[in-house]
Amino acid sequence: MSNLKTPYYLCEEKLLRKNLEILKYVSEKSGAKVLLALKGFAFSGFADLVSDYLSGCTCSGLHEAKFAKEYFRGQIHTYSPAFKEEEIEEILSLSHHLIFNSFAQLEKYKDKAQKKVSIGLRLNPEVSSSPVDLYNPCGLHSRLGITKKNFEEGKLDGVEGLHFHALCEQDADALEEVLKSFEEKFGKFISKMKWINFGGGHHITRKDYDVEKLIKLIYDFKEKYSVEVFIEPGEAVGWQSGTLVTTVLDIVDNGMKIAILDSSAEAHMPDTLAMPYRAEVRGAGEANEKKYTYRLGGNTCLAGDIMGDYSFDKPLHVGDKIIFEDQIHYTIVKNTTFNGIKLPNLTILRENGDMEIVREFGYEEYKRRN
Ligand SMILES: Cc1ncc(COP(=O)(O)O)c(C=O)c1O
Repeated sequence: MSNLKTPYYLCEEKLLRKNLEILKYVSEKSGAKVLLALKGFAFSGFADLVSDYLSGCTCSGLHEAKFAKEYFRGQIHTYSPAFKEEEIEEILSLSHHLIFNSFAQLEKYKDKAQKKVSIGLRLNPEVSSSPVDLYNPCGLHSRLGITKKNFEEGKLDGVEGLHFHALCEQDADALEEVLKSFEEKFGKFISKMKWINFGGGHHITRKDYDVEKLIKLIYDFKEKYSVEVFIEPGEAVGWQSGTLVTTVLDIVDNGMKIAILDSSAEAHMPDTLAMPYRAEVRGAGEANEKKYTYRLGGNTCLAGDIMGDYSFDKPLHVGDKIIFEDQIHYTIVKNTTFNGIKLPNLTILRENGDMEIVREFGYEEYKRRN
């Protein structure tokens, strides 16, 4: 590991497989099909492995659908808040399910779509339990999904499925609440459908998630309505499946010791600032918990590009590696070349101990985007 140039994301086959085993178990026991939400975890290096366990990918538009087709096996379901005229034909040629966000979009593309895909509508069950507004699909004035008020039941001709996505890092109890509201609002249409998609945000692979409750909820729903059920987790696939490895470049002192790393919270770990949350650092504690406390900061000019304050048993030195835990989902897919900072390479650790570099980045990525 010490020979590899930092920064790099390291995704571990063993950890990823553990998640996939759980998701496959959910699928087998409940009868639901599990799709990977590419928006959270689009990692070509393990596309084959993911395809061995899951039924396909859920995509947010043309580029993700193309990526799914190029690297993964199985079904491709595509939902977008709005589809563009210039992309719709290609999306239709790639997708098995196409999910519209409004009746206007359904009307616009129905004739083309009906011949090629199974059509669905995204509904908004208006249950708002997501922990932060940024990730709350059912918040006030949400543009995501059709509300009961806007639901035009006379226009369901050709619609084979209904979709909702209302959760974010939540447990099965939260899904139960969403299902209650979904059934109250749209119950009479469910049996007329071929499939219902329960979206993502199910934190299934988190240690204390109640997997058996999820299985029961899905199983009972399928029994009650005789429909196929899909779930489309992103985070739960990549959850705790690897790290971001960085190096200390310099240590400065301005009232406290600050280590400057060859990475960036803003560019490489964006949700630590957006959510926000504190990433765990391997071997480190909270500030002042251990003998030597440092603020860890990124190598950009953004003042707030700070990972946080951490303490260590030994003093840090230039050249030391700092390893951020759980940095695979919603990092690689969201990172940027802000400040011209190099994107972290994508590497994998095989179960047999082999390490491979999947993607190496340099100046070209910055150049092409600016
Ligand atoms: C429509 C849809 N499906 C699935 C997901 C995946 O959610 P998560 O990664 O939280 O499981 C998202 C996330 O935003 C989404 O918007």
